[in-house]
Amino acid sequence: KFNQLALTPPMGWNSWNTFQTHINEDLIKKTADNIVSTGMKEAGYIYLVLDDGWMTKQRDSLGYLVPDPEKFPHGIKAVIDYVHSKGLKFGLYNCAGTLTCAGYPGTRGHEYQDALRYAQWGIDYLKYDWCSSDGINAKEAYTTMSRAISNAGRPMVFSLCEWGSNQPWLWAENVGQLWRTTADITAERWDGKVDKGSYFQFSPMAIMDSQEALYPYAGPGHYNDPDMLEVGNGNYTPEENRSHFSMWAMMAAPLMAGNDLSKMTPSILNILTNKNIISIDQDSLAIQGHRIENLPDSVEVWAKPLKNNQWAVAFLNRGSKTSSLQYTWSEKVISDTVHHKILDLRNTNYPLQDLWLDKQIGTTKKTLKVSLPAHDVLLIKIFTHH
Ligand code: DGJ
Repeated sequence: KFNQLALTPPMGWNSWNTFQTHINEDLIKKTADNIVSTGMKEAGYIYLVLDDGWMTKQRDSLGYLVPDPEKFPHGIKAVIDYVHSKGLKFGLYNCAGTLTCAGYPGTRGHEYQDALRYAQWGIDYLKYDWCSSDGINAKEAYTTMSRAISNAGRPMVFSLCEWGSNQPWLWAENVGQLWRTTADITAERWDGKVDKGSYFQFSPMAIMDSQEALYPYAGPGHYNDPDMLEVGNGNYTPEENRSHFSMWAMMAAPLMAGNDLSKMTPSILNILTNKNIISIDQDSLAIQGHRIENLPDSVEVWAKPLKNNQWAVAFLNRGSKTSSLQYTWSEKVISDTVHHKILDLRNTNYPLQDLWLDKQIGTTKKTLKVSLPAHDVLLIKIFTHH
């Protein structure tokens, strides 16, 4: 069935955030090698997605897309086969409009032809953008491509990249497995937006803010997509990288790494492959966490219900100075009423696990007292039974 394709948020790597259109056979094969040799595959990063820039500027005389022969001298199928031979899945990019954002041929008017070709090539995942879409109805365009994919007969995760202005969370649950909610992410900042003249790019924190209210719309097989990870990109501090990754996990976000794996430091690899954090993202309830409280020093508290009545709670310091955090669990009733989840912590003595340190840090009986550095996060799992 359709939604079985991504029962938990898809994980993988995408070429765009670091390489834009500077992609080629060598890069993709080496990236596939690195996904395996670094342990990322083992950690769950299964989809290798080739974003914009893989085609020539013209379709051929029969209307088929033509992979760029300079970037892919042995053809695209050879690269796809190589990626598959590593036990990974392969994703490709196109656009619902007449041209992709980088000016290559879009799929408008060629939906069934392109879907069939992708199936012949062995594509497992299609990211479908929204440039050059003037006058096109978003719901219709994405539904057409979704049907074309199912007619082509090969299961493909369908990733809608419409940027949120047509509110895909209201209609895309049975169209694709994930839908973008905002304009593009940028690693230029950690918080706020970046004015690019005619458009804005969003920092991880800005995306998180605009995605938060959408938590009722996510669930197993259908996810709000706060865009690909910038972990390891830009000049983020270790705290910022950790927070970005933690909050994507709290939001049950697709985890698509977007960094150069050939230059990844051990500390970035440790963040991206942290089992405890990934297990929060991949929890089988697939509930998107939401903000439950604001504390002094710009510390936010987020909560995410997990299977077996366990919960993840994140303390995120958005401020620029270290916070002396105090949190008295025994005064709290934490809830997600949308999903009918309530955690009454009064008179409880539940063990708490610091997921990054991977150790127990007291129980809900005791007031939590920690100092939380600027832009850092404390991610805790509450064991309501054990
Ligand atoms: C806009 C999308 O939002 C990006 O993720 C990327 O796919 C580019 N287009 C490619 O042109």
